[in-house]
Amino acid sequence: MSANRLYIFDTTLRDGEQVPGCQLNTVEKIQVAQALESLGVDVIEAGFPISSPGDYASVVEISKAVKNPIVCALSRCRQEDIDMAVEALKYAKQKRIHTGIGTSDYHIKYKFNSTRDEILERAVSAVKYAKKFVEDVEFYCEDAGRTDNEFLARVAEAVIKAGATVVNVPDTTGYCLPYEYGEKIKYLVEHVSNIDKAILSTHCHNDLGLATANTIAGITNGARQVEVAINGVGERAGNTSLEEVAMIMKCHKSLNIETNINTQKIYAVSRMVSNLMNMPVQPNKAIVGRNAFAHSSGIHQDGMLKNMQTYEIMNPQDVGLDEAYFVLTARSGRAALKHRLKELEVEVNEERLEQIYEAFLKLADQKKEVSDGDLLLLVGMKPDAMRRIKIDFLKVTSGVGVQPEASLGLTVADEKFEAKAEGNGPVDAAINALKKIIKKKMILREFTIQSINKGSNDVGKVHMQVECDGAVYYGMGANTDIVVASLEAYIDAVNKFKNL
Ligand code: KIV
Ligand code: ZN
Repeated sequence: MSANRLYIFDTTLRDGEQVPGCQLNTVEKIQVAQALESLGVDVIEAGFPISSPGDYASVVEISKAVKNPIVCALSRCRQEDIDMAVEALKYAKQKRIHTGIGTSDYHIKYKFNSTRDEILERAVSAVKYAKKFVEDVEFYCEDAGRTDNEFLARVAEAVIKAGATVVNVPDTTGYCLPYEYGEKIKYLVEHVSNIDKAILSTHCHNDLGLATANTIAGITNGARQVEVAINGVGERAGNTSLEEVAMIMKCHKSLNIETNINTQKIYAVSRMVSNLMNMPVQPNKAIVGRNAFAHSSGIHQDGMLKNMQTYEIMNPQDVGLDEAYFVLTARSGRAALKHRLKELEVEVNEERLEQIYEAFLKLADQKKEVSDGDLLLLVGMKPDAMRRIKIDFLKVTSGVGVQPEASLGLTVADEKFEAKAEGNGPVDAAINALKKIIKKKMILREFTIQSINKGSNDVGKVHMQVECDGAVYYGMGANTDIVVASLEAYIDAVNKFKNL
């Protein structure tokens, strides 16, 4: 039986971008839109043109920049909104207007001070008006999650009759339980007489952590478009994550659903969006979190070494990562230790492994994570000379009206080096000084700073990913001085380079 096609409607640049502090400029939005195109999304919701001149300009420029996906612009059920959306979409090769109105009694009564019949009339006339300009019109029933199913079906039937090609069923407040949302979609499939003329779309928010579960319930009950965002960004707790839905479809073949997503590009697009939006991805985020493929428990590491399928339901390469990796901690077992030693080309017999394991556990109790350098020291070998970089001193000047500058002293394999450099901030200056000493082509791929408590005297924890020779290395640093923590994180990553 041939698989059913699920259309991926990405709203990273509209619902996702509404998040305070995550705004992108037009150039950045074009970058994201092109990445979404290469990822294989079917529809890009590029903005809400009437909301601001910036949103209008972004829809215009994205329309010019992409050719395969449908470009979609949001509007309310108002002629001036629709006119602006039509104008903004003029360069799109394939275009869609997404118009709609609140249909729950909460919205009808408190937002519009109106009645169900009036709302139905406004919905129909907005669709008819949009239809004068574009063939593809999607209608959203805002707060459909809390809308009475019988009224929702009336609205859906009326807007499809007026020409809507897609009916969007947003759980705007993230309130529904998966079975309720699934039943809502099923109700529409069974009670809207002209449903065969339109596609039903899910649009789930994550306020109760149920966005992906609700989306899947929608799909299994007949929805064939999903509205999603990279990393699940969006209003409040966010939208359904694109990467989660795409990988669920890939892992669960029994659903018999296909998407056009090239999943191997997921990780790169996730990082691009996170960097541009200044929105870190939580480490334990499904699919794209830093720890999503990191195994730290001894039992799991042992199982993985015997057969990856014991603890891995998907291949990290399928999302664009090299391979699963083990974090050596106090919970790691002998099997993982032996495996890592082998990777470091250290062969040990069982007796020696036992001794090293004891020493390893003592060290792991003190340090959270045991690095390759620590291991080599434990086995009594001097780590590869160039891999031991230590900071001797770091002095930075920065402030208002001052060109940030750093003086750095490092010991690299027992040899002392010093360098000075400027940068566009103190961290950049410190890294530039490091690059004068370590002359490798290195690219900072991820940089996140977290405070552990909340005070200004707090320890800053820095996570970095540094790319070198096509591989990405992870580094961590922690210090009350965030410039020092950042440099430590960078050096931690450099210390792991295969070739220095
Ligand atoms: O959550 C929502 O209801 C929306 C609509 C505007 C589609 O984002
Ligand atoms: Zn939304």
